[in-house]
Amino acid sequence: MKNHNTNRLTPNQGNGRIRVAIQKSGRLSERSQEVLKNLGLRFARSKDKLFWYGQDFPVDLLLVRDDDIPRLLLDGVCELGIVGENIANEVMLDRESESGLVQLQKLGFGHCRLSIAVPEDSGITSVADLDGLRIATSYPALTRSLLEKRGVSASLSELSGAVEIAPSMGTADAISDLVSTGTTLRANHLKELEVLYQSEAALYGRASGVNEEMQALVDLLLSRLNGVMQAMASKYVMLHAPRDALEKITELLPGVEHPSVMPLEGSDRIAVHAVCGEKVFWEHLEALKAVGASAILVLPVEKMLA
Ligand code: PRP
Ligand code: ZN
Repeated sequence: MKNHNTNRLTPNQGNGRIRVAIQKSGRLSERSQEVLKNLGLRFARSKDKLFWYGQDFPVDLLLVRDDDIPRLLLDGVCELGIVGENIANEVMLDRESESGLVQLQKLGFGHCRLSIAVPEDSGITSVADLDGLRIATSYPALTRSLLEKRGVSASLSELSGAVEIAPSMGTADAISDLVSTGTTLRANHLKELEVLYQSEAALYGRASGVNEEMQALVDLLLSRLNGVMQAMASKYVMLHAPRDALEKITELLPGVEHPSVMPLEGSDRIAVHAVCGEKVFWEHLEALKAVGASAILVLPVEKMLA
């Protein structure tokens, strides 16, 4: 095996391999690794846990701080990165002169919101009240642009962490921070005033592109990712029904136009199988039962290639 310990955070020289950066530890790390596993990628973990070498596939992994991922993409250290939309947009607003990042696929996890919060006992009741006040945030560019849209001009101070303690320290009147469960706000006696921005994890690439060989790999991964996302959103439904209920049943199956229909041996009922492209709720099953369906099974779809 080659020595992979040489200066990894330098631009990728190619050699037919691409690099994907994901968060090393935190809210997005586990699901990010799961996505890559679903794409059929396996990695040999290195001791320093920063660089994992791709087995079977010329795709290597960088495990880094999520906040560093946009910069690593822009600097050519990696070709793909999984990061929150909030972080990607913060960097893009901050580096307006550069060609920036492209969002390739939203990933449906890591949902959170960038919100303005103030001390529970403060008299501030709306974002408009923040005009001329001090706001602490780790996302100054994003916060400034969202406040400007609301016609509010506040003085922003950038903190790289522990933003939530700024009001009690007396260094800010409000904060603009990510909220996921709301636990951090409650623990610091802060109330959420307004949501500025909704975010989730997404796969990003560089707007300036990559060479042809790398692009072929990126395209392959994107096509697989598309299949993974579709499979995740899909369910395979099987049921029995009276033949004359087929039309109603088809209408009731979410996201289905042409189900497979099979006769049931020795019965006037049929078996119906379909891939539902939309969420299947209990209400759907109850409605199917009401028009005569029985033996209804809903199964997860593991892989899909259209
Ligand atoms: C965010 C934010 C809060 C926490 C809120 O940090 O800065 O600390 O999440 O989550 P809660 O509403 O569930 O309490 P993030 O996950 O981005 O971690 P980081 O600051 O270490 O990047
Ligand atoms: Zn972070």
